[in-house]
Amino acid sequence: MPSAKFISSLIISLASLQAVSASPMNEVRETTYPDVIPGAGLPSLESLGLTSAQLYEMPKPEASEMTIESANFDSRCGPADAAYTNVNGIIACYNYLKGLGTTHCGVGGNGVTEFCRSGDAHAIGQSLTGRDESSYCSDVAIGLLWVINGCTRPDQSCAGFSAPNGNGLMLPMGSPVDYERAAKVLKKALEQGANLWNGSTHYGTPDANSLHVLRYYFDKYPEDAEKVVLTLKGCFSHQSGPTGSPEAIRASVEESLRVLGGTKTIDVFELARVDPQVPVETSVKALAELVKEGKIAGIGLSEVSASTIRKAHAIHPLAAVEIELSLVTPDPLHNGILDACHELGIAFLAYSPVGRGWLTGKYRKFEDIPKDDFRHRFPRFGPAVFEQNFKLVEAVEQVAKRRGLTTAQVAIAWVARQGAIPIPGSTNIDRVAVNSNLATLTDDDMRELQKILDTFPIAGERYGGEQEKFLNA
Ligand SMILES: NC(=O)c1ccc[n+]([C@@H]2O[C@H](COP(=O)([O-])OP(=O)(O)OC[C@H]3O[C@@H](n4cnc5c(N)ncnc54)[C@H](OP(=O)(O)O)[C@@H]3O)[C@@H](O)[C@H]2O)c1
Repeated sequence: MPSAKFISSLIISLASLQAVSASPMNEVRETTYPDVIPGAGLPSLESLGLTSAQLYEMPKPEASEMTIESANFDSRCGPADAAYTNVNGIIACYNYLKGLGTTHCGVGGNGVTEFCRSGDAHAIGQSLTGRDESSYCSDVAIGLLWVINGCTRPDQSCAGFSAPNGNGLMLPMGSPVDYERAAKVLKKALEQGANLWNGSTHYGTPDANSLHVLRYYFDKYPEDAEKVVLTLKGCFSHQSGPTGSPEAIRASVEESLRVLGGTKTIDVFELARVDPQVPVETSVKALAELVKEGKIAGIGLSEVSASTIRKAHAIHPLAAVEIELSLVTPDPLHNGILDACHELGIAFLAYSPVGRGWLTGKYRKFEDIPKDDFRHRFPRFGPAVFEQNFKLVEAVEQVAKRRGLTTAQVAIAWVARQGAIPIPGSTNIDRVAVNSNLATLTDDDMRELQKILDTFPIAGERYGGEQEKFLNA
């Protein structure tokens, strides 16, 4: 069973936005319960000899039931207050799905699939690979349990999803690249549950980039190929910018497959940037052809606006959208991008969740950035805005201190709480291990962080210069 590949974005109750208070706990404790409605193709309660009342009245599940590898995904609560709904309906769905055992709960490659519904609670699965995926229903149930235990509020409302953690492959491992060191970092990430890897043909040189690191890795550990969801960006060069013509897209995919040499499939191929010379519909049609040919499994876009996401998704469903999102770049929360992804069931990959190092506290004054450091390319690290931007970092540090976490942990957990999959990057094996395990932030923490965002706006463009014009395209 490809359970590790099943990207169980179990989004619970997102469809019941306005109805959260329609069935408060007290009412549910009465003898009438909402019907528990199985998803299409799953066995009816009648055929199992069960009633909705029985599913509601089963004992509350124990956290100790969460033992299997496939459910080893951290829970992300929320994302919005309005998504919270009565936990009892979710527990009833948990009981139903758990009872199905090794029955397959399948999801289509395009969009979301409902496994169970009761009252306002919806248990939904989503494939991130662009392919049809399935998992044992009991594994799906454990994903739900993860959320029930991690995201139930004192008023017994609950919302959240269970998803893998990401890991970035923009690993500056020296020149020549230290492949063995990179492989150790990646091995650690996977061992810790970060099975969504994000690379690009332009992370490195044409002869030594993410693909070459991946080839080295999967030659060494072929058994891991099935465990990793690879999201790969292409069709971009630092010198000439994006290349989104059908010919260029095909060439980029073919070259990627050549370097991978059959060691790993491309689960999601993304345009690193939309080519302003080519309508996005044309580019997505070209990618859809490659899906049809089986060369890539799913399609993604990076740095696109909400309207581009909608246009592209109408041509072929997008599996993923990759956008910068962090406490120093909260823009996607306000420009409709995150909402569009949630609405359309597109996985949101949050890149640079640690603010490219801002949210580590390592850079406390401008002089702390080494002279040859790549951060000098980014306006937000510039001397004119450094002091202002550091104020936000200091405030986040206070939250981290109070919670006994590092600033980076708070930064990554905040991103995850937005309903995104963070893809932090680190060259350090210990930090990768930390990044792969999400910390939990309380609603109070989230409110405090929001206050910090409101008080200390970040100054400076994200990329500056030529690169800035390819953003939010
Ligand atoms: N689509 C796009 O346009 C785009 C652009 C940029 C990045 N990305 C993707 O996003 C991934 C991550 O982005 P990023 O590397 O720019 O930014 P990031 O993850 O926000 O920050 C990385 C920096 O933070 C440090 N760091 C990471 N975790 C840490 C921790 N727990 N404690 C202390 N320091 C920590 C790293 O240093 P050490 O290495 O020393 O730990 C590194 O300097 C990339 O690998 C790439 O896959 C995509």
